Amino acid sequence: MLGAAWLTGLALLANTPIFGAQAAATCGAKTFKNPVLYEDFPDNDISVGPDGAYYFSASNFHYSPGAPILRSYDLVDWEFVGHSIPRLNFGDGYDLPATGERSYRGGTWASTLRYRKSNGLWYWIGCTNFWITWVFTAPKPEGPWTQKANYGGGVCFYDNGLLIDDDDTMYVVYTYDGGKQVNVTQLAPDGLSTVRTEKVLVPGQVGAESVEGNRMYKINGLYYILNDHPGSTAYVWKSTSPWGPYEGQPLADSVPGPVPGGGAPHQGSLVQAPSGDWYFMSFTWAYPSGRMPVLAPIKFQPSGFPTLVTNISTSPPSWGVSYPLPAPKKPLNYPWTRTHSFTSVSALPVSFEWNHNPDTSKFSLSSSRGLILNTASVTTDLYQARNTLTHRVHGEFPSATAELDISGMADGDRAGLAAFRDRSAYIGLHKTGDTVSVVALFNATIDEWSGTTLDLGSVKGSVDLPQGTGKVSLRVKMDARASGDHKASFEYSLDGKTWTGLGGVFELYTGWAFFLGYRFAVFNYATKALGGNVAVLSFGTA
Ligand SMILES: *[C@@H]1O[C@H](CO)[C@@H](O)[C@H](O)[C@H]1NC(C)=O
Ligand SMILES: *[C@@H]1O[C@H](CO)[C@@H](O)[C@H](O)[C@H]1NC(C)=O
Ligand SMILES: *[C@@H]1O[C@H](CO)[C@@H](O)[C@H](O)[C@H]1NC(C)=O
Repeated sequence: MLGAAWLTGLALLANTPIFGAQAAATCGAKTFKNPVLYEDFPDNDISVGPDGAYYFSASNFHYSPGAPILRSYDLVDWEFVGHSIPRLNFGDGYDLPATGERSYRGGTWASTLRYRKSNGLWYWIGCTNFWITWVFTAPKPEGPWTQKANYGGGVCFYDNGLLIDDDDTMYVVYTYDGGKQVNVTQLAPDGLSTVRTEKVLVPGQVGAESVEGNRMYKINGLYYILNDHPGSTAYVWKSTSPWGPYEGQPLADSVPGPVPGGGAPHQGSLVQAPSGDWYFMSFTWAYPSGRMPVLAPIKFQPSGFPTLVTNISTSPPSWGVSYPLPAPKKPLNYPWTRTHSFTSVSALPVSFEWNHNPDTSKFSLSSSRGLILNTASVTTDLYQARNTLTHRVHGEFPSATAELDISGMADGDRAGLAAFRDRSAYIGLHKTGDTVSVVALFNATIDEWSGTTLDLGSVKGSVDLPQGTGKVSLRVKMDARASGDHKASFEYSLDGKTWTGLGGVFELYTGWAFFLGYRFAVFNYATKALGGNVAVLSFGTA
């Protein structure tokens, strides 16, 4: 039935040229294209703020600041507005101390963000280290965000979703026992402690072994829980009481995703468009890019359960590559790719995140030299170096260019631009004595589960620079499509015009267990002693 209605849309679409990302819409088309954002923003929790805008909270694990927030007025065009976690105050490992501790894959994941009308505060709630559930609050999504409380050691609201009911009662739904049980906890009126907890459902009721990615909603007077079986299936559960009993049904069961080479969307959020229609914003696993948000309409049936609107011209029916717009376009014109010079800003733009917490005494913004990175660690391991600044890759063929002033480098220092993940490669500068070499280093690797370094990487190419070289530009280009060739290449230039490739081709890794896609990363660390610096004169993504 739904499919038939959708087919009419398809016929129209056949004559509509689609120009990539959301450009079609700005040409007057009435459709949007999936993914709505070709960037790694996993585990979305989307809700409506007091200004009527949509706010999208995502996971970014060991990157600092944590828990990025996006905003949209039409569910299709998004802008990056801030982070809920100013600093990952969750243990020493988040500071990459010289003792070797590290927190790869720790930090923020599958958390929740909601606005509470009664006190005008935003709440972020998330479990860290599988052990403690933190509450952060802010008067605005842009902050300032404050770490308020945790519910005590051992209380992990794993993959949790917050519902603030019409009477202002706060409920949190989450998984425990390895996903085999789902609880609802009622919070105290201030949201900072718990008053009642009940087990409300088990995935066995729908024949699933485990569920995660829990969200809780009240829609037309009924309580709904959305969750998913990892890798395949979204489930919707409904009840007349927050405490159950809940009855469940699949919403999307192994529905082929809209991104070539990407997985079946299953985790995400339910959200109502301004028209009153409902949508499921999920995400598709598509490495090396990462987990990208994809949107599809859903229709509530007389039974009270929603069904997904799919493309029935494929077998099995698939998640649409495009759909009619959920709301009139309100383009934000947020520049997801651009060149930053850092000379006229008082803080780093929100799209930058550090690998683990930065040592704030070791970087600065200068009106003449841009971003100055003083070496902050003495190590030979890129993964133990502090103050590596990262930026998500955007689109199918992302590239980044960094122009560095290397005149302040000290003997033993290493600076450069990486394709950064659990298997990384970079083009950089190694200074030995008075000589600076441009070096391509491939396959610096950590174990994707434990974060332990397995491989410091191998030098694939090295060229000594003329004595006295003051500026070097570095470039990384990728094919980031899951269906692509996963190749990255590296170039340098001494005049910003003529580029020379170095090191050949690096194959980007597509394993899923790191939970994040590739990023561009600018780094500067010492192997001998602190004291040197580089200045990032510009950093551009395309
Ligand atoms: C979930 O609820 C059950 C039943 O009330 C309780 O025994 C269990 O400890 C709770 N689990 C967590 C992680 O809160
Ligand atoms: C639906 O699937 C067909 C067959 O693969 C494809 O050609 C078409 O582009 C898809 N349409 C949408 C809107 O996803
Ligand atoms: C990269 O390093 C890992 C860990 O040492 C190793 O298993 C893998 O084979 C290496 N890959 C390449 C292409 O050298």
